[in-house]
Amino acid sequence: MLSFDPARLSERDNYKFLIGSIIPRPIAFVTTRSKDGVLNGAPFSYFNIVSSNPPMISLSIQRSGGNQKDTARNILESREFVVHIVDEHNVDKINQTAASLAPDESEVQLANLTPADSVKVAVPGVKEAKVRMECVLEHTLELGGEETPGCDFIIGKVVQYHIEKGIYENGRIDAEGLAAVSRLAGNHYAKIGEVFEIQRPK
Ligand SMILES: Cc1cc2nc3c(=O)[nH]c(=O)nc-3n(C[C@H](O)[C@H](O)[C@H](O)COP(=O)(O)O)c2cc1C
Repeated sequence: MLSFDPARLSERDNYKFLIGSIIPRPIAFVTTRSKDGVLNGAPFSYFNIVSSNPPMISLSIQRSGGNQKDTARNILESREFVVHIVDEHNVDKINQTAASLAPDESEVQLANLTPADSVKVAVPGVKEAKVRMECVLEHTLELGGEETPGCDFIIGKVVQYHIEKGIYENGRIDAEGLAAVSRLAGNHYAKIGEVFEIQRPK
């Protein structure tokens, strides 16, 4: 075995160690609205469930050079956002939204995604996802960094679910129909592989 102290690794090598080993990571496509009404969209793979009762999810948004990304700033200002599950059909378009645009430019427009009205929040989602969740900001934490925080950790409470009819039956979601993709390291993504079952011990 090799053994490393993260404090002795560069920022880049810590990043590569984490994104190469914590795999596969689900990907959220997150829409937010700026103060000026620009619809922003970006993918985030530091994304997971925090709680199912009540339903809450987390996003971790890295700062670069101490600067908040548009998504983090918009969520802190408006306290709402929409999370979409990235899948085999929308991943190409959603990858385009990771471009670094100015705050007054819309990645949703750039990638030709179609806005979809929300029910409980003002920020729209997009139609090109089989599952989307309207969220309100529950909690935020500024983490890490010697002088300025290194990331904005966001916890959102889900206030409305949307799901394509054909993949939902008796409260169960058809994983094959959803066809979610995950992020690995670098430019690598993965589909759901072979599915197997194991009985849980009593
Ligand atoms: C698949 C994928 C996953 C990403 N995951 C994250 C993440 O978890 N945290 C993060 O800070 N940036 C992540 N990024 C980079 C952001 O999407 C990128 O910085 C984006 O431009 C931020 O947009 P914004 O400034 O409009 O918020 C990811 C990029 C891709 C393509």
